[in-house]
Amino acid sequence: MSAPAPLLTTIADLAAYVGREVTLRGWVYHLRSSGKVRFLVLRDGTGLAQAVLVKGQLPEADFAAFEELTLESSLEVAGRVKADARAPGGYELEATALKPIHLAEPFPIQPKEHGVGFLLDHRHLWLRSPRQQAILRVRDEVSRACRDFFHERGFVLVDTPILTPTACEGTTTLFATQYLDRGTAYLSQSGQLYLEAAAMALGRVYCFGPTFRAEKSKTRRHLMEFWMVEAEAAFFTLEDILGLAEDLVCYLVDRVLSERRRELELLERDPGPLSAVAKPFPRLRYAEVLERLAAAGAALPFGEDLGGDEETLVSRMFDRPVMITHYPLSCKAFYMEADPEDPRLALCVDLLAPEGYGEIIGGSQRVADLEVLRRRLQEHHLPEEPFAWYLDLRRYGSVPHAGFGMGLERVVAWLCGLKHVREAIPFPRLLDRLYP
Ligand code: 4AD
Ligand code: MG
Repeated sequence: MSAPAPLLTTIADLAAYVGREVTLRGWVYHLRSSGKVRFLVLRDGTGLAQAVLVKGQLPEADFAAFEELTLESSLEVAGRVKADARAPGGYELEATALKPIHLAEPFPIQPKEHGVGFLLDHRHLWLRSPRQQAILRVRDEVSRACRDFFHERGFVLVDTPILTPTACEGTTTLFATQYLDRGTAYLSQSGQLYLEAAAMALGRVYCFGPTFRAEKSKTRRHLMEFWMVEAEAAFFTLEDILGLAEDLVCYLVDRVLSERRRELELLERDPGPLSAVAKPFPRLRYAEVLERLAAAGAALPFGEDLGGDEETLVSRMFDRPVMITHYPLSCKAFYMEADPEDPRLALCVDLLAPEGYGEIIGGSQRVADLEVLRRRLQEHHLPEEPFAWYLDLRRYGSVPHAGFGMGLERVVAWLCGLKHVREAIPFPRLLDRLYP
């Protein structure tokens, strides 16, 4: 009878098994030989651990199997767990068995500098690198923290459709698809309009899903497909969403600083600027921003939306996120409520992340009056018929309401200190890239 296989565990849990024999499964991260000793650094998704193979301490065939191993080969290794401060991860395995599962072909990504085009072509393999794993873990943390944040505040998750008959954020960035014999459908640019309907049912709601923008821009902030978390609440005003957005951003920063320190370190992300993020965030009106921009030699005429460069400039003027409100209605979406004190302006907000990251949140109070909304559709050259249901919301107990949307990748890029949003999503969809 053969001995029972040692307990199967993961690298992250090794601390609990010091002195005992365990089995790990994973992939070869690094190989090294020195005399009669072989060193194998294994990665299993939870961390890195070194297995030390000493001739005579494991079956001859297992020891010999080491020589066949290549980078990224998959395998199972058993051994006794030893604490060792010098080992990667702090623990080491004195190997008692080694079973290759699959011998990898020469791995395309080598520990050297590759161009970003090459890495993106091999995104499916690039994800295995410690840096990309760390980003994915931060993304997971932020995602869960968003859900926790809204759940704790009584917001109900409502899933909004991806196939839609209309535009939400302007007709120039729509992805169209044939919807059987019913004509054209568009991939959702935002769940907002549906969320407004749900807010009239449940009061406070949020959605979190993929959104699509056929943006012709090739910038470090734009993706064709990105994830957005959107909140909407009945009876909320601009003032209410300013507070909510501020709380959300602080919540996410705190969460990542407390739960993902290790990942930030691995990414060489200086936590200093993140620790400085605290309420209250500076609140500036669009008009004041124009003055500041002019003073900085980057004058913008009234009526123009801030571009990426202006956002970068403004966000660098502060050590924490800044909220810009009261943009001209003319440069914003059709559904925004006008400021009763100056109807040229919208009751809206863009929240800019610090360190030059630019807009991460956009939101507003929504038009509550039926006739005003009708007029807005006309002004934006949008057909009334497909919006009939949306107009209905202004027919049956219309109330002031407001909400915002936050782009997940932009937040992850900021928190991780990435140069480009493309690394903040597992498989980026870019202007010139749909593969892999
Ligand atoms: O400002 P936006 O366009 O607002 C909306 O879509 C509203 N309907 C949201 C709402 O009020 N419910 O987009 C919101 C956020 C931006 O602040 C940005 O973070 C992100 O979505 N975003 C993008 N992220 C990556 N790539 C793109 N092409 C993005 N476009 C917007
Ligand atoms: Mg916006």
